[in-house]
Amino acid sequence: MAGTTLVLDGLAKRYNDGPAAVDHITLEVAPGELLGLLGPSGCGKTTTLRMIGGLTPTSAGRILVDGHDVTALPPHKRDMGIVFQSYALFPHMDVAANIAFGLEMRGCSRKEIAEKVAAVLELVRLGDLARRRPKELSGGQQQRVALARALVIAPRILLLDEPLSNLDAKLREEMRAEITDIQRRLGITTVFVTHDQGEALAMCDRIAVMEHGRVAQLGTPHAIYEHPASEFVADFVGRSNRIAARAGAGGTIALGDHVFRTAVPAPAGPVTLMIRPHRIELGPPPGPDWNTCSGVVRRVTYVGDLLALEVECAGASFHVERPTQPGTAAPPVGTTTSLAWRTADTLAFPRTA
Ligand SMILES: Nc1ncnc2c1ncn2[C@@H]1O[C@H](COP(=O)(O)OP(=O)(O)OP(=O)(O)O)[C@@H](O)[C@H]1O
Ligand SMILES: [Mg+2]
Repeated sequence: MAGTTLVLDGLAKRYNDGPAAVDHITLEVAPGELLGLLGPSGCGKTTTLRMIGGLTPTSAGRILVDGHDVTALPPHKRDMGIVFQSYALFPHMDVAANIAFGLEMRGCSRKEIAEKVAAVLELVRLGDLARRRPKELSGGQQQRVALARALVIAPRILLLDEPLSNLDAKLREEMRAEITDIQRRLGITTVFVTHDQGEALAMCDRIAVMEHGRVAQLGTPHAIYEHPASEFVADFVGRSNRIAARAGAGGTIALGDHVFRTAVPAPAGPVTLMIRPHRIELGPPPGPDWNTCSGVVRRVTYVGDLLALEVECAGASFHVERPTQPGTAAPPVGTTTSLAWRTADTLAFPRTA
């Protein structure tokens, strides 16, 4: 099966004349791509997904599947498989019947249904559990039934809304790999909604970070993490120090008497300086492309695999995280220490407030 392209063109939604829940999103999902919609609660992820699937009417914009406008089509004519957070399995039907349901609605023959259900049960590794009811399954198994039910109709597009959020942390990590393996094997164009940045970074080919119904940034996990386009993205994806400073002429950043160089020069004026805690090292700068400042150690916390330090520098508090090694001691509280971090890891965004 050749891959399918999904295009959102100015897609927008307002509920009952309220504020825009989705505010004119335009993006393209490439054939076989796993695109993540990532953002905080209420930013419009589910609304976007439901509009793509035809479950929520659009207020404006178009949805194109391989160039065909499907915006006005009912869900069952869109050829999309949907997995919800709640799974929405039929409790009185066994696993096989749950999965067969969509095929029966489409009028498939008994033989065809039996073959397709068996194949998809194999795909999600549930071959032995076909006769169980949903309540006799673990969370991860129920999740796989929901995925099988979405995939059995051989949809052109797979829509996943927080499919892992009901699972405990360990199972969630296992299912991450399982879902991406299946998605890649089938080469199915997929939109994956999550508010979990780790999940998005680990699973998606590209991520659209959403803020107030808009796409704040669209890019690969690497681009989003290393080159965030705004303070919001830098803060939402991964963790960062946020330090009030000033950008001067030439784009250098002044904090007290210290001057730092940045990856991307910021316009002159107040800025938020952002540096990820684990990218800050203790000690003098190892090379020319590093920024440095000295500060007083205010707090040291041993967290097993890492050492978390709070270092006060020019009135600002820097959070620093170092991996622990046997035999290395933390600088004592109250002593002065040097901090160093790369120019490339120095981000500054204009402060609006
Ligand atoms: N049926 C509805 N009627 C009115 N407003 C709604 C409805 N569904 C969602 N909203 C509003 O639209 C906005 C976006 O909601 P949406 O469910 O798309 O967010 P989300 O990003 O999926 O959030 P979460 O991470 O909490 O699931 C929110 O302000 C929400 O209150
Ligand atoms: Mg949601």
